[in-house]
Amino acid sequence: MSASGDLHARRTAAVARGVGSMISSYVDSAGGGTMTDVDGREWIDFAAGIAVTNVGNAAPRVVEAVRAQVERFTHTCFMIAPYEGYVAVCERLNALTPGSFDKRSALFNSGAEAVENAVKVARHHTGRPAVVVFDHAYHGRTNLTLALTAKNMPYKHRFGPFAPEVYRAPMSYPLHDGLSGADAAARAIDVIDKQVGAANVAAVLIEPIQGEGGFVVPAPGFLAALADWARGAGAVFVADEIQTGFCRTGDWFASPHDGVEPDLVCTAKGIAGGLPLAGVTGRAEIMDAVHVGGLGGTYGGNPVACAAALAAIETMHELDLCAAARRIEDIAKPRLAGLAGAEGPVAEVRGRGAMLAIEILDAAGRPDPATTAAIAKTCHAAGLLLLTCGTYGNVIRLLPPLVIDEDTLGRGLDILAAAVAEA
Ligand SMILES: Cc1ncc(COP(=O)(O)O)c(C=O)c1O
Repeated sequence: MSASGDLHARRTAAVARGVGSMISSYVDSAGGGTMTDVDGREWIDFAAGIAVTNVGNAAPRVVEAVRAQVERFTHTCFMIAPYEGYVAVCERLNALTPGSFDKRSALFNSGAEAVENAVKVARHHTGRPAVVVFDHAYHGRTNLTLALTAKNMPYKHRFGPFAPEVYRAPMSYPLHDGLSGADAAARAIDVIDKQVGAANVAAVLIEPIQGEGGFVVPAPGFLAALADWARGAGAVFVADEIQTGFCRTGDWFASPHDGVEPDLVCTAKGIAGGLPLAGVTGRAEIMDAVHVGGLGGTYGGNPVACAAALAAIETMHELDLCAAARRIEDIAKPRLAGLAGAEGPVAEVRGRGAMLAIEILDAAGRPDPATTAAIAKTCHAAGLLLLTCGTYGNVIRLLPPLVIDEDTLGRGLDILAAAVAEA
């Protein structure tokens, strides 16, 4: 049996069935665009651990910073004995997130925890209960964030009841609704006004480009109109930049592409080169509304994760990974556009920077999850790590590490092109 086969047998006996894996090969090592499994097979990485290893896996500065930090101390709990790394990460987040206003940050362990805390802060600040989210949204797998997440299978099925005071508004999805940003925003605002009531809204929470829901890029002006409405209604506009953040879309964050300065920004994933860290950053008067001791947790802003984040952010600056993401777009988008044609299943190419997707429809214009899964499977068989997404499971997404070299990127695109041609 192969080494992966051995591990798979042990896994089946030891790991809960509900935790799935996309492939059944087990990792030995990984770098900036490739992964090697325990049988010595090399894979091309178009997943980056779901948009996490933007600086690459085992990035040299991150490795060095982590090693230095674990030799000094691994944990004290910032709520017990504080340390500089936590403060420095908050300083970086305050400087890098959109908006030149005075900001404060708090650190957590995961994206879901950041979103939960953004909702806590918004409710505390406004004294209101309601949270508005959107069709196709994904905000995590904890109970509150499952209430915020849209898709039933596999995320929500039989895990309810979910937290109350969560309301869903229609998203701008240009391929399917054909609406301008202004019209899609007017439709969403009408739902909020009629079904929730402006005076009840604590937060409007949205991914500036939706991730798991299908890499949905809202029509221009949609986000800005919602942010304006939220401000006028006295609600907090929260951008979930957990998948879009840290150079992924060709800028540090995606909200500025639509001219938006969110009141609060949730971050995680790409922040720390693969170590678990998350943050909520926003207007000082909103963040500081919460009483002392109201935010925290044992591991939030762990010193090793903070050291990794500082090194990852330094790497993003030094290698100009925002420009690298735009370069990936310049190379990949025309290749993907070449796959879209009247005959084939690729109905649209969309996304920004190194967050790109193709949506697969059948001849009648309906979502085609079977063909999508077949394309992904062919890619996996050819050694390309590639994810699908979408409420209808009909979107293939590209999330390569931003440090991927052009040759590896090109080889991955060749595999995808061949898989689409075969579908
Ligand atoms: C936009 C968005 N929000 C929240 C989350 C949840 O993050 P985590 O899995 O770290 O809890 C994710 C994860 O995929 C995400 O893409």
